[in-house]
Amino acid sequence: MTDAIAFDGVRLAFGGEPIYDRVDFTVARGEFVCLLGPSGCGKSTALRLIGDLVPPDGGTVRVDGRPPAEAWSEVAFVFQSPRLAPWRDVLSNVLLGAELRFGRAEARRREPLAREMLAMVGLASSAAKYPSMLSGGERQRVAIARALVVEPSIVLMDEPFSALDPNTRRRLRAEIERIWQHTGRTVLFVTHDIDEALTLADRIVLLSGKPTRVLETVVVDAPRPRRPADDPRLAALRDRLNQLFRSLEPSSEPDPQEPDA
Ligand SMILES: Nc1ncnc2c1ncn2[C@@H]1O[C@H](COP(=O)(O)OP(=O)(O)OP(=O)(O)O)[C@@H](O)[C@H]1O
Ligand SMILES: [Mg+2]
Repeated sequence: MTDAIAFDGVRLAFGGEPIYDRVDFTVARGEFVCLLGPSGCGKSTALRLIGDLVPPDGGTVRVDGRPPAEAWSEVAFVFQSPRLAPWRDVLSNVLLGAELRFGRAEARRREPLAREMLAMVGLASSAAKYPSMLSGGERQRVAIARALVVEPSIVLMDEPFSALDPNTRRRLRAEIERIWQHTGRTVLFVTHDIDEALTLADRIVLLSGKPTRVLETVVVDAPRPRRPADDPRLAALRDRLNQLFRSLEPSSEPDPQEPDA
């Protein structure tokens, strides 16, 4: 079966600065892969390559077996900040992605789906509220619902929970895991939080510092739901990733040993 995402020998430079040396990884259909790596190594750039927002300088990126330019309809994004339109209520924010992609008539047809997605993220009763009336976690839930309403087969998430407090983050992680299990989507999830990756991923693709290569790919096969902080089966993996990660980003990262840092 064709992989949902395939990077094959991808090279990239920005303004003469080499960013990717050679990046190779795949994401199978239905798989939950976390892309982990130090700041500036090109994690967000990987998502932009997949979304056809940047072209590679060498090698190939394939999305559902096709060039990204032909596969944009398979893909939806969730960013670090929810990027909601403040003048639109929650329901019409959830429909915004569909409206931009498919036009108003199609967006109107998707209203029942939008309500269903809002219910899935626990906001069924907030459809008529405005973004200013929501908490940070609720806004991020709206962004997740908005991504799902275009019915992408691949959801790209760029540190979607990093701006949230630890409890909200934990709740949303559990929620995204449930949604993934329920919908069978492929998820590529960028994070630089090791415990987040260990909680969510079927596989973790660890990137080096620039010029970037894949340093290691780690299969996480512990049963779900996981609590990496006190799961002895994950302890060795956690230690190893911590060690590798520290060697990549020696001074600037918070200590990942902190509970749910
Ligand atoms: N449009 C651009 N022009 C020039 N350089 C860029 C551009 N976009 C990204 N870069 C550089 O490419 C590198 C990778 O950027 P990217 O945003 O992908 O990093 P990242 O891994 O997502 O980092 P972070 O964890 O801090 O979000 C960085 O060095 C960045 O400065
Ligand atoms: Mg980034």
